[in-house]
Amino acid sequence: MLLTVQDSINWIRLTNGKVQENREYLTTLDQAIGDGDHGINMSRGFNEVMSKVHVSEYETVAEVFKDVAMTLISKVGGASGPLYGTAFLKMSTALKGNGKEVDFTSFTNAIDEGLKGIVMRGKAKEGDKTMIDVWAPVLKLLKESEEVDPEQLAVTAKVAVEATKHIKATKGRAAYLGDRSIEHIDPGAMSSYYLFEALAEVLST
Ligand SMILES: Nc1ncnc2c1ncn2[C@@H]1O[C@H](COP(=O)(O)OP(=O)(O)O)[C@@H](O)[C@H]1O
Ligand SMILES: [Mg+2]
Repeated sequence: MLLTVQDSINWIRLTNGKVQENREYLTTLDQAIGDGDHGINMSRGFNEVMSKVHVSEYETVAEVFKDVAMTLISKVGGASGPLYGTAFLKMSTALKGNGKEVDFTSFTNAIDEGLKGIVMRGKAKEGDKTMIDVWAPVLKLLKESEEVDPEQLAVTAKVAVEATKHIKATKGRAAYLGDRSIEHIDPGAMSSYYLFEALAEVLST
């Protein structure tokens, strides 16, 4: 067993904490290569997610992820809401048969489906300087492992987000900047790093 219903709620709660703490930073990153709203979008979205999750009772991890998905899709303006929302919706669907607890293989499959959802929705690929550049290496790590090493998970996500600094953006708003997008970390990659850093924290306790 890897993730219980309570773990999945803790994951979202910890992600929310990081998003709220780093709201200004995410906005600063998006000011450099986007329109400066990523911190606001994520902060608002995860506030709404927490309001929903707090008052709900869940039997399965799939139900938790479905509420996260629907809230992000409906409450967040900007590209990131529908993208994260689609990821959680696909993860939810992938975990439908799992019930109260999710094992490592099912979770890896869910991340795989989540990433496919992001790609399907946004039509970007690895190397375009988006959140995909964090999701893809995390998925690769999970696929190559037999269990999660939380420290390795956090390091992989950290290295991946730092690497977006050196990529020229070819998708999303940052693509309009061309070469000027280089030397800036992608904001969505940073928020995805918070997501996986939070997951690593949940899995290490
Ligand atoms: N087509 C796409 N595929 C994957 N991720 C994307 C795409 N477009 C944008 N993103 C991600 O969304 C982030 C920007 O989110 P946000 O600022 O909230 O939305 P917007 O770009 O609409 O202002 C980017 O940094 C990038 O990581
Ligand atoms: Mg933006």
